[in-house]
Amino acid sequence: MSFSVDYLSEYYFLGRLFILNEFLYEWLFYMNFNKEYIDWLRKLLLRWNYFYYINNNPEVSDVVYDNTMKELCDLENKYLGCVSVRSPTQLIGGTLNTTFKKLRHLSPMLSLDNIFEKSEFLSFDKRLRVMLVDEVRISYCCELKLDGLAVNLVYKNGVFVSAATRGDGIYGEDITSNVRTISTIPSKFKITNNISFPDILEIRGEVFMLDIDFIALNEYLIKQGKKSFSNSRNAASGSLRQLNSAITAKRQLSFFCYGFGCVQGGNFPKQHWDRLQYCKFLGMPVSDYTRLCQNSGEVLQYYNDVQKMRSVLGFRIDGVVIKVNDISLQKKLGYSFKAPRWAIACKFPSKQKISKLYSVDFQVGRTGILTPVARIEQVLLSGVKISNVSLYNINEIQRLDLMIGDIVVICRIGDVIPRIIEVVKSYRKFNVVQPIKFPNYCPVCNTKIYRVVQQAVLRCHAGLFCSAQRKRSIQHFAARKAMNIVGLGSSLIDQLIENRLVYTPADLFYLNESQLLNLNNVGIKVVSNLLRSLNRAKCTTFSRFLYSLGIYKVGIVHAINLAIFYGTMDRLVNADIASLMRVQNIGRVVAGYVYRFFREQYNLKIVKELLSSSIGIYWLEVAPLSLHTNNIHSVFFGKNIVFTGSLSICSRRDVEDKLLLFGAQIHNNISSKTDLLIVGQSAGSKLQKAIQMNIKIMEEMELLNLLKIN
Ligand code: IVH
Repeated sequence: MSFSVDYLSEYYFLGRLFILNEFLYEWLFYMNFNKEYIDWLRKLLLRWNYFYYINNNPEVSDVVYDNTMKELCDLENKYLGCVSVRSPTQLIGGTLNTTFKKLRHLSPMLSLDNIFEKSEFLSFDKRLRVMLVDEVRISYCCELKLDGLAVNLVYKNGVFVSAATRGDGIYGEDITSNVRTISTIPSKFKITNNISFPDILEIRGEVFMLDIDFIALNEYLIKQGKKSFSNSRNAASGSLRQLNSAITAKRQLSFFCYGFGCVQGGNFPKQHWDRLQYCKFLGMPVSDYTRLCQNSGEVLQYYNDVQKMRSVLGFRIDGVVIKVNDISLQKKLGYSFKAPRWAIACKFPSKQKISKLYSVDFQVGRTGILTPVARIEQVLLSGVKISNVSLYNINEIQRLDLMIGDIVVICRIGDVIPRIIEVVKSYRKFNVVQPIKFPNYCPVCNTKIYRVVQQAVLRCHAGLFCSAQRKRSIQHFAARKAMNIVGLGSSLIDQLIENRLVYTPADLFYLNESQLLNLNNVGIKVVSNLLRSLNRAKCTTFSRFLYSLGIYKVGIVHAINLAIFYGTMDRLVNADIASLMRVQNIGRVVAGYVYRFFREQYNLKIVKELLSSSIGIYWLEVAPLSLHTNNIHSVFFGKNIVFTGSLSICSRRDVEDKLLLFGAQIHNNISSKTDLLIVGQSAGSKLQKAIQMNIKIMEEMELLNLLKIN
């Protein structure tokens, strides 16, 4: 991520006038800028540390923290050479909360260096080989990177004596009485068959909360009218760092051991993996997802396996930790100032990314509504490059308090649709930001924009005068549920409008071969298919034709109801609002839109032309099926239905039409509102999801029987 130096640009300009040695000036300029920026980043991270470690209430998401920390590290390395010991990059954990007694660890509790791509592990492995000159094989103990709170437990002669948080790495907060309330942490080692163990042993591990316990705790807190925790890490930390251990005792906390500090006297294995297994014998909880890997290939496999099962573990992890297994090799490799050289945390790519908002454009839709679209610095999120994010409406901009130049957090809702979820306001001090200007005139046709009263909607009322609305309305006219003109894709539509070959839907039917062949990327095959499809589309149903006109707020269900109620175009055109309101499911608002549509001479002219003998659109039925039954009694009435797989007996289009007629609503994706999933052949992941969500599933034959088609 790059940050602008705009705020200093005036000084920069003056500097160019007064300092002759430009090179020297630029060097000083960057030194100054970076020094100031680095100091600022340090203060910011210290503040965030306080909220994270002491308050259990992080001010920013992990992705923002990690990015800022990485940026500071890079800047310190690049510009300062040596680093101040007070920099947050040199700190281990947070500062200590003075309300707890301080406890000195017998050996320092360090942190871990992070990598963010699994491929970086190969460089780590290579680095170790260079350091361990004659070591051919390095085996690794691979563990989950648990997302909780690091603790140090001291056992003397097998008896638990004290527990502390990591604190600053040297001193931690004394949480002994709270840890005693965690039932899975043994108060003394389980001793069988004269098993021996060190006289003094520091056991290190993570206290965390299972997802179910976290949900239950938050439900309880909300019922009590108390503030809930934003994630299970904060819940674990907040529960453990209580001055009253009776409160900790009521919270369900879990623990896994993953390491050791001071080991004094007695016997203890010489491999990390063996040590963990040994501790299991002693009664210590150790994760079963720990794996001993003999080479880097196995480590990468472990990373993949864990990433796949992450969502079913039942607790939060944020990566894997890879440790050299042999303790003698660990000793050879030693430590850097804050982390061991023999271990690395490989974090999973975040489902969120940091980016910068460059600008906001307003896109004009079919009905003239302007949708703000954020143009952001490109980011890669779950394998997809994202540079445009829809902001839905101006409310969203206001809700986020978004400004041009802001640093933002991007995620993909349902792993698909990109969305801005957070604005990192702390960055505004160093990033020049400007308010987003809402347009007064349509960005496409320059017509005055009106804000729909009491709604967060900006609308261009130019209708088909606006080329953007023309493009979208032709797209709508040709859509599958409308006139179903196969082969008329959006790029072809754009060319037809831009070359002024098409102005209204009626113009489509006058297109000829030579006009079409002059367009870019249009060959004879495309042309003949399109002309054939245009011809076929002329035979339709009244409801499809009505839907294709794109009357504001008239979807396919309204179109079907209107078609059934009026039967002919003439009767519909002449209907007044009172009559329109008698149509099933149509209220005053939609009735008003329909009424006004047919008062517009421009619209009437197009309808007339489409139905005239020169074009000749016609229908034999008013709707895909004439309504003999009262659809309120249909089992499908008001049901939200999703399809998966392909139907083998009937066309999906026919089945959908019939379901719509029976008052059902068809959706593309399964959600909590889905009532029924229709399964065809080669059903996809929707089936899996429906089973998990206990949604009713129906096969094609059963559906056809109920619909009485076959
Ligand atoms: S080893 C010197 N192993 O991650 C070794 N840490 O980012 C230090 N963590 O403070 C820790 N799972 O709170 C280790 N399997 C694991 C871990 C783990 C989670 C946490 C721990 C540590 C932090 C460092």
